[in-house]
Amino acid sequence: MADFKLPANSVVRGGKVFKSDSGAKNIKQFKIYRWDPDTGENPRLDTYEVDMDTCGPMVLDALIKIKNEIDPTLTFRRSCREGICGSCAMNIDGTNTLACTKAIDTVKGDVAVYPLPHMHVVKDLVPDLTHFYAQYASIKPWMQTQTTPPPDREMLQSKADRSELDGLYECILCACCSTSCPSYWWNGDRYLGPAILLQAYRWIADSRDEATGERLDDLEDPFRLYRCHTIMNCTNTCPKGLNPAEAIAKIKKLMVERR
Ligand code: SF4
Ligand code: SF4
Ligand code: FES
Repeated sequence: MADFKLPANSVVRGGKVFKSDSGAKNIKQFKIYRWDPDTGENPRLDTYEVDMDTCGPMVLDALIKIKNEIDPTLTFRRSCREGICGSCAMNIDGTNTLACTKAIDTVKGDVAVYPLPHMHVVKDLVPDLTHFYAQYASIKPWMQTQTTPPPDREMLQSKADRSELDGLYECILCACCSTSCPSYWWNGDRYLGPAILLQAYRWIADSRDEATGERLDDLEDPFRLYRCHTIMNCTNTCPKGLNPAEAIAKIKKLMVERR
């Protein structure tokens, strides 16, 4: 019979508690997932007391303060600190989002911080996105022309054609949507997931791209596209306010229309 329990070495155990200085009056507790592959130990949940009177407003500010002032071993990704690079995506207070744009005061009580769910963890809050990026490469995310000779300057679009890319070009590939999608959890090896499908549609919708037929052929597959069951977790969680489920629905509509 199948064993549905977590393997013993993946159970998250209670961790260390880092108390704040006794003078601090405005304390917030951060409960943060920790896992170091080099120790062979189980993951644990460490608790950090942070003095909010000396901390910036966003969860990323707190993580940086913890790393700089309390525990330099805490590992996470970040770069832009303004919601552009997508590298600080993690699960905060039960929702996938960007640590740099998630305000601490929107979380009631302790702030729980985990890596993006259902991904292999490299260390602490850093998920392994190797497969995600390989899936991105598989959709050939660049403009392909076939009959139009390469131009010697940028290829212009009408305003109407350009507006077709609104809601698509803003995607920062943070993976919050794909890692919130139950279909991607169970079939992520073959299902492309909402982020990559939104990106695929970004090129299909581009009036300058001439490979629409090949792009649709590539997606015409029971797993790569059709594992989306319109559960909408992706759209609910996107920190950029985008709608990957709608992009997927538009690809499915094009599939029907070309038959
Ligand atoms: S659609 Fe939104 S959640 Fe998904 S990768 Fe793009 S920006 Fe992130
Ligand atoms: S709408 Fe599709 S892609 Fe989005 S969460 Fe649901 S199954 Fe996943
Ligand atoms: S640090 Fe770039 S999106 Fe958060």
